[in-house]
Amino acid sequence: MPNSLVEETKRIVAQFDYSDDDVNKGVREFLRQMNEGLQKDGTSISQIPTYVTGVPNGTEKGLYMAVDLGGTNFRVCSVHLNGDTTFNLTYSKVAIPKELMVAKTSKELFGFLAKQIEFFLKTHHEEHFEAHVRRRRSSKTAEGYEDENLFQLGFTFSFPVQQFGINKGSLIRWTKGFDIPDAVGKDVCALLQDEIDLLHLPVKVAALVNDTVGTLMARSYTSPGKTATLIGAIFGTGTNGAYVEKITNLQKSVDGVYDKSTGEMVINTEWGSFDNQLNVLPKTQFDATLDRESVNPGIQIFEKRVSGMFLGEIVRLAVVSLYENANVSLFKGVTSNTNGEQSTTHIGDDSGLFQQWGLDSSLMSVAVADDTPELSSLRQELDSQLKIRSASVEDAQAFKNIAHAVGRRAARLSAVALGSIVIQSGRLKETSDDLVDIGADGSLVEHYPFFRDMIYEALKAIEGIGPEGAERIRIGLATDGSGVGAALIALVAAGMEKKAIV
Ligand code: GLC
Repeated sequence: MPNSLVEETKRIVAQFDYSDDDVNKGVREFLRQMNEGLQKDGTSISQIPTYVTGVPNGTEKGLYMAVDLGGTNFRVCSVHLNGDTTFNLTYSKVAIPKELMVAKTSKELFGFLAKQIEFFLKTHHEEHFEAHVRRRRSSKTAEGYEDENLFQLGFTFSFPVQQFGINKGSLIRWTKGFDIPDAVGKDVCALLQDEIDLLHLPVKVAALVNDTVGTLMARSYTSPGKTATLIGAIFGTGTNGAYVEKITNLQKSVDGVYDKSTGEMVINTEWGSFDNQLNVLPKTQFDATLDRESVNPGIQIFEKRVSGMFLGEIVRLAVVSLYENANVSLFKGVTSNTNGEQSTTHIGDDSGLFQQWGLDSSLMSVAVADDTPELSSLRQELDSQLKIRSASVEDAQAFKNIAHAVGRRAARLSAVALGSIVIQSGRLKETSDDLVDIGADGSLVEHYPFFRDMIYEALKAIEGIGPEGAERIRIGLATDGSGVGAALIALVAAGMEKKAIV
């Protein structure tokens, strides 16, 4: 690399350093904000009570439905829980039309969701569907039997919702690019049930589930060795976590009825908004620009440094600053043109490098995974994804170093959230050798190289955890969490196994 490119890249990379000291400072503040959220409403970390007061143990049985709205796709599935930690899942997935994410009325979106449920039932559960229609026709007292024969549905809705009960909750705010103002403040379960009823479907929205809570339940059902799972975490388009908290620590008032006998309740932290006030979170000029130009400046500040929707944009802003730096030659290699003259190579006009959100985080994974001396796959992807023609090895190395720094900071920040919750739970102290289990899902943990390793490295540095504690923390994947987890919560909500339609 020409010297100034190496030096200037180092200067940018250094801005993303997040030292062990920073991690510990982050943990102290996270614990403070977590506890503040347990005491009152309207705090940065919302700490939303979910009314789920226990985690499964793998013996649960029955046939349930689950739907999942929270990102780019809407998933509908039916889940057969076999009662032996295994399950069978039938599912279909449809992309949510972009215009529905910002529809004028919530009816447009929820009507679309109900239609997908109808289509799924007709395709995969025709018998059940027909039987329902027959019973409806022949019964004089439809109301009486109906509840018994309805599919109980768990609704995974991955946005911040103030819950009033296991299947009631009003939307606090949209995140991740959705924006339908008339839905804010409304009960999202009722919005879906109304549209289901208009189509006369045999479905009852029995449970409202955040994806993190679904992940926690699913991991607990399938968890190897029957270790009770403490946390369900998502590191994908967005980031968030849910965990099992002692009811005695939950001091703000909880409306609605719930079972107090277990002494515990699952809390949806909504940690994406940790430290919106920027007391301790790192703040580079790139973070500031990203936030200022986002649809929701000032909120989801932690998420904007950690999750897949934003990491590519941070890298893009940092790389553009290097490109615009007059002392540096980046992506400006020299080639011969047809007249035999030397000319500067171009970046295609339509390159995502100069467009907001133009750099997909998946390119970071390619960069970090490419260990070849020539960085050939990265250079190929820079060309195909960003129209950066003939990037040199030095250019690609600079890009890779920046991507690695941004990804590493995200993983270390993730450790702040996970480590704080492990400390809050006291589980490392309760026994000397039991594992503390964490179920995780999302593109970063699934596909970003070494994301979990980088989390472990930071966990070791946390006071109160240390290398020995980190050894006892197991972060396992819980893919399909939203389907299985939502089904499990629908089961809890239905109250008893015999209500399941088997
Ligand atoms: C956003 C949502 C949160 C969800 C997370 C992961 O942070 O606000 O509810 O759990 O994304 O999908």
